[in-house]
Amino acid sequence: MSLPPGFLDELRTRVTLSSVVGRKVTWDMRKSNMAKGDFWAPCPFHQEKSASFHVDDRKGFYYCFGCHAKGDALGFVKEVENLSFMEAVEVLAREAGMQMPARDPQAAERADRRTELQQVMEEAVRFYRLQLKTAAGAQARSYLTQKRRLSEAAWERWEIGWAPDNAQAVIEALAQKGFSQDLMIASGVVARSDSGRLYDRFHSRIIFPIRDARGRAISLGGRSLDPNARAKYLNGPETELFDKGRNLFNHAPAREAAGKGKPLIVAEGYMDVIALSEAGFTAAVAPLGTAVTEDQLRLIWRISDEPLIALDGDTAGIRAGLRVVDLALPLLEAGKGLRFALLPGGQDPDDLIKAEGAPAMQAVLDTAQPMVRLLWQRETEGRDFDSPERRAALDKTLRAALKRIADPSIRAHYGEAIKELRQELFGANRRAAALRGTSPRGQGFRPGRFAPPAPALASTRASVLATSARAPEESLREAVILAVLLRFPELVTRFESALERLELTSEDHTRLRNLLLTHAHTADCADLVAADSPAALDRLQANPHVRIAPALQPRADAEFAAACVETDLASLLALRAHRNELAEAEEDVAHLADEGLTWRLSKAAEARHAAARGPQEQKSEGLIAPNGVELDRAELERARRLRDSIDFSKGGRNRP
Ligand code: UTP
Ligand code: MN
Repeated sequence: MSLPPGFLDELRTRVTLSSVVGRKVTWDMRKSNMAKGDFWAPCPFHQEKSASFHVDDRKGFYYCFGCHAKGDALGFVKEVENLSFMEAVEVLAREAGMQMPARDPQAAERADRRTELQQVMEEAVRFYRLQLKTAAGAQARSYLTQKRRLSEAAWERWEIGWAPDNAQAVIEALAQKGFSQDLMIASGVVARSDSGRLYDRFHSRIIFPIRDARGRAISLGGRSLDPNARAKYLNGPETELFDKGRNLFNHAPAREAAGKGKPLIVAEGYMDVIALSEAGFTAAVAPLGTAVTEDQLRLIWRISDEPLIALDGDTAGIRAGLRVVDLALPLLEAGKGLRFALLPGGQDPDDLIKAEGAPAMQAVLDTAQPMVRLLWQRETEGRDFDSPERRAALDKTLRAALKRIADPSIRAHYGEAIKELRQELFGANRRAAALRGTSPRGQGFRPGRFAPPAPALASTRASVLATSARAPEESLREAVILAVLLRFPELVTRFESALERLELTSEDHTRLRNLLLTHAHTADCADLVAADSPAALDRLQANPHVRIAPALQPRADAEFAAACVETDLASLLALRAHRNELAEAEEDVAHLADEGLTWRLSKAAEARHAAARGPQEQKSEGLIAPNGVELDRAELERARRLRDSIDFSKGGRNRP
């Protein structure tokens, strides 16, 4: 959705920053001067007792003198609620009484229908919550209190309800509110039996409302109190509102908590999430009655770079963990990882917290294993590697697993880690084994077995940068792209996702890119960047390539600049593809050589050629654009072709 011109300005004028911020902080009244629109408070972004956080209502900006957090009302909502830019716009627009721009009529109709369904859901939630307080809810109340040790305050927080045995009750309640039977069924709350009779799908169950990322009720989960029930848990069916694989239980609160620094924990069920949150691990989510899906993994990674997956320490739990590993391998990107926390004795987080309290849970989290350990464990646990054939077989399976990692640099790191583990097993272990007169044997994967290792991918970023430092051509292209976008910040949104994913070659560039992304929507983007990082900006502008870039000449306009950025991005991605091919090939030579090597090397050479030809081509086909800037037709053409061969939506990786 795009916003009409002036929408954001209007929004900024209507919203008073101090009233937005005021909900999250307590003003220091002595230091503040309200009449002047000058407010001070302890900073909501870092721990402190003094008030270094300053809000200037006239300028509409905040700045923390402690942690240097800064921005406007939109930035504040974005940070604090951990929302996307558009989501933050929606939140503030709603508050300011501004209509978000209309969508097309069909979309509007769908939106109306969704709104109606959401109203049905909210009404059902309300009804079930009331039922929990009535005589009909007595059994449920004692179950929650005694078996689950949940206080009444916790029922309220989680909006827990009771669907009474009378399977007509909710239908009557919804009908009274004027909802049609069609809507009741479409919401998933009500089902139709084979004989055509309508009934409450969740009757005789404890109700857990399921809300989407923005806190809107989209479905329900119900737990039976009857140990012989056919299904212990029942979740609402897929509906227009509810896509099981694309939602997470407790998504919005967990996102907010993770934004404040709580570790994100992925548990298996509703009760685990509730128990974790109540014990202070407030950034907890769970899938909704299915195994974790690819979409959910992406959602989880949007919240946290390295979420913790809490698993039952039993075989089923570890198998579930390995399923997640298999799902995650092809999706791994730099800076993203997973850690696995194995709970002792077949317990789930709810059991453990109930039995031993939050410190025991924390202890388990502290010993979480990076993904590569789990992978290694699967292949080695309990097996003997006492012959060259067996070791070769192990290498082969490991190589197959590594090949599934799409990102070459991450693959190299996993290769390294596995190499080390391998040495541990065949090197030190073997010597020890020789002394004992036994053969090397894989070790069991048990909670707390290893000392807490460093975050799995901490080194990945650094190394990607290190490799790039050897790539002056890439650095130069980056500089030009950044400089052009600084001159035409209105173009940033067009390249936003490609920019976000770009691994840049220097800290300067990364910093400027991040600033651009943060401030792109403000009118004074360039000023804000300059104010934040004058030195980085100076260095960028001193770059001779930047000074001669066509898109930065006085007569260049935004459209021309956009074409140039596109071209440069395409070349940059081609260069990266080439470097990745090389890294991949090097990695194979280093420790996992295979028959594909020669082919890959030749591909690498080809990619290198394609990338190098671009900028070096003679300018004989030069062309004067209407605005008088010389344009190289051949170069543009080639870049366009390159661009078409690169899928921007996939982070620019184009593996042959
Ligand atoms: P578990 O059987 O491990 O249940 O299922 P639990 O969460 O520990 O439940 P309590 O503690 O006995 O109440 C884990 C998750 O699998 C889904 C639910 O989401 C549940 O939370 N599940 C389980 C179902 O969808 N249906 C079932 O019949 C059972
Ligand atoms: Mn449980």
